[in-house]
Amino acid sequence: MAEVYNWHLGRPIAYVYPETHPQKQFAAVFNINRCIGCQTCTGACKATWTFSKGQEYMWWNNVESKPYGSYPKYWDVKILQKLDEAHQAAGKTAQWDPTTGEQAPYGTYNGMTITEAAATLNIGEQALGYLPPDNEWSAPNFYEDTSTKYKGGTLGLSPEGAALPVHQTWFFYLQRICNHCTYPACAAACPRKAIYKRPEDGIVLIDQARCRGYRKCVEQCPYKKSMYRGTTNTSEKCVACYPRVEGNDPLSNGVPMETRCMAVCPGKIRMNGLVEIGEDGTWAKDLQNPLYYMIREEKVALPLYPQFGTEPNIYYIPPRWAPRPYLRQMFGPGVDDAIARYTAPSRTLLALMQLFRATQTMIFRFEIEEGPLVFETEKEGQPWQMYDDTVIGFDAKGREVVRLSVVEPLHELPQERLNSI
Ligand code: SF4
Ligand code: SF4
Ligand code: SF4
Ligand code: F3S
Repeated sequence: MAEVYNWHLGRPIAYVYPETHPQKQFAAVFNINRCIGCQTCTGACKATWTFSKGQEYMWWNNVESKPYGSYPKYWDVKILQKLDEAHQAAGKTAQWDPTTGEQAPYGTYNGMTITEAAATLNIGEQALGYLPPDNEWSAPNFYEDTSTKYKGGTLGLSPEGAALPVHQTWFFYLQRICNHCTYPACAAACPRKAIYKRPEDGIVLIDQARCRGYRKCVEQCPYKKSMYRGTTNTSEKCVACYPRVEGNDPLSNGVPMETRCMAVCPGKIRMNGLVEIGEDGTWAKDLQNPLYYMIREEKVALPLYPQFGTEPNIYYIPPRWAPRPYLRQMFGPGVDDAIARYTAPSRTLLALMQLFRATQTMIFRFEIEEGPLVFETEKEGQPWQMYDDTVIGFDAKGREVVRLSVVEPLHELPQERLNSI
């Protein structure tokens, strides 16, 4: 095992391969608060990549209703339970210390990752995992729109009941694709070394010519995003729509373009891009890159189950209405801070968030032109102002591709145009 640095966890972790980093990393922010569960993303991926024989059960993009829904069934409950049992067997606790670490409020994770748990328990595998039986893949939408009434207990609400803004009856949609992890468990697991991370953009792919269908990747990806295809005896996974990311898709005009599942989203919850990685593996500071700004500067978007240790690259703005202990288990200790920043967004964040789904072209840089004060109120006991700023997005070649104001312009039809269809 080598030692690699995981910034989500604020410490080095054990990983099978030594630390190497791509020049850029494919990443995205998903705003859970805005998702309407329409599954347009799911259908767009299916229609593009998994419409052939042997792929019927595959949903590289899926949207599940939490807390009950999951695809494959119970994937997160099962791996969390395994990790919990591993800690008990090793006599350890899985604690976060939010007060330490340079990446506050991420803090430091003092428990074991799935790789470290496998090494500690000496189970002869690279990472903790399991192979879901066929029936657990049988449908992507178990418990769709099923809410819970969660009243107490360690993960529950206050004994008095609902503690607004947390709702007593709740569910939320969790949008899932492959996380194109910095330290992919699928790649670590493959005995054939058939899985690789591209040096140019960090996209994780399975080499179909090398794969022999061993399914260790299916077993050890904690997010269950590698899927076996019986007709070819190989595994497949989300390919991050790489022709679009490369700018080689006929539609893309030679510049990187957002993926299919991102570009179709009617809820405007997704923003996809590439972030620059410095030579030391850290994200190069770039406050004008929308993803860098939201993830590293404001820390309003958080990784999914960072404690697994793969350093996933899809980030989520957590839902405001779900119980915080549940969300902290899912997104780590930065949840409260992220929700506070989303609830009372800074002037820059409010303007930047207008860019979600405003164009299919990947935005590499944004600028803000300041506008007038249009609204004042109090949020969380603090004064809060809204300005009608204009945000401008630029593509990979530095060309302006989109320009939007915070206040949506109102256009009134002239009298003679009314009912003129
Ligand atoms: Fe591999 Fe799973 Fe990470 Fe995707 S989410 S890169 S399949 S470990
Ligand atoms: Fe499917 Fe492309 Fe989205 Fe991956 S990025 S889930 S391949 S549409
Ligand atoms: Fe949610 Fe967008 Fe997918 Fe619809 S297309 S389910 S709004 S992420
Ligand atoms: Fe390797 Fe997974 Fe294929 S473990 S051989 S990539 S099925």
